[in-house]
Amino acid sequence: MANLAVAILLASLGAVATAQKTSAPAAMPAYQGSYPSYASPPVAEMPAYQGSYPSHISSPAASPSYTFPAPSPPSMAAPTASPPSPTPSPSAGRRRLRVGFYRRSCPRAENIVREAVRNATSKNPGLGAGIIRMHFHDCFVQGCDASVLLDPTAANPQPEKLSPPNFPSLRGFEVIDAAKEALEKVCPGRVSCADIIAFAARDASFFLSRARINFRMPAGRLDGRVSLSSEALDFLPPPFFNLSQLVDNFRAKNLDEDDLVVLSGAHTIGVSHCSSFTDRLPPNPSDMNPAFATLLQSKCPVSPNFTNDPTVVQDIVTPNRLDTRYYTNVLKRNVLFTSDAALLSSRRTARKVAENALIPRRWESKFARAMVKMAAIELKTAANGEIRKMCRVVNN
Ligand code: HEM
Repeated sequence: MANLAVAILLASLGAVATAQKTSAPAAMPAYQGSYPSYASPPVAEMPAYQGSYPSHISSPAASPSYTFPAPSPPSMAAPTASPPSPTPSPSAGRRRLRVGFYRRSCPRAENIVREAVRNATSKNPGLGAGIIRMHFHDCFVQGCDASVLLDPTAANPQPEKLSPPNFPSLRGFEVIDAAKEALEKVCPGRVSCADIIAFAARDASFFLSRARINFRMPAGRLDGRVSLSSEALDFLPPPFFNLSQLVDNFRAKNLDEDDLVVLSGAHTIGVSHCSSFTDRLPPNPSDMNPAFATLLQSKCPVSPNFTNDPTVVQDIVTPNRLDTRYYTNVLKRNVLFTSDAALLSSRRTARKVAENALIPRRWESKFARAMVKMAAIELKTAANGEIRKMCRVVNN
């Protein structure tokens, strides 16, 4: 029955047929974006990004100077099992994560994080979106080790958080700080910042889905001591990636095509800076729905720059709800990025998009499972990890 519905949905939208025709244009317009300008900088000084896109990743056309746009833990049937094996770490033994890791050492840990997230998202749901994105950006670079939280220092002036994919768009740092501060009062030195991010992303998913996405997050991560801006560019996928680039990028982190489609559903919340998608607005060629493109043109300058780079909501229908509306938007071509539209460029992924659009319950449990899987990428060991006293600085 569901299969038939998926087939009918795809056929009626012409998605699959078009999918075969719409691989990314051979010569995509050079990405002209600059830093988004809305988010308050996490640090006083904001260095100009001078880097170019890593050579092993092909950027669109010949664009040498790519600038990135700029209470008791819940239970869900889904991912209660131990997480899938993480990408092997170059250094020694694997670390095992466990549900209820802090039950003895800091019994209130998960409640404290949840309260911090509840406070923040009740005032500003966008912070919940920021935290879910932070979890992704943390785990893809140096593994889930809170490397994204480290502030610049004299010894390391360019940490991940200042890298174009993160700065100044990544938000929610103050929520993690608030949780850590509260935790240090009740159980100092016990709860890692990496676990706080993972719990917070779980909790943000819970609140923004109105409790429909409700799962247990295994814990026991350690915090890293390395954070390099260049690695954020190396490992975080840019919005102009096509499907095969996205699949390769995720595969490098032990995530599969299904995880890619399922986790992309997070683009049903939060915002994007215009500079992240103006390469898809007329007169540039793209398969974006013309009415949607016109709407975006009315909100974005032709050439966004550092001082003029507004944000738009990713999902115009339910911008603050973590729901399956993203997939309907993909099918209708009402999505911002090439990477979103790319999910229709193969029969297999187009089918997954249609299934997620049609069967929200299934997507919700898959999303929970994929978040737990992502949360186990490249864990630090006792040899290269620690529990930070403050999330923004490594211990002495
Ligand atoms: C598949 C590859 C992905 C690409 C290319 C991508 C790219 C982007 C870009 C360019 C933005 C807008 C940044 C800005 O201009 O402000 C964004 C926003 C966002 N992304 Fe992704 N993303 C991807 C996957 C993910 C995943 C796996 C998650 C989480 C599970 C995620 C969650 C979010 C959220 C929640 C936002 C809104 C953030 C906010 O409002 O502060 N994304 N993404």
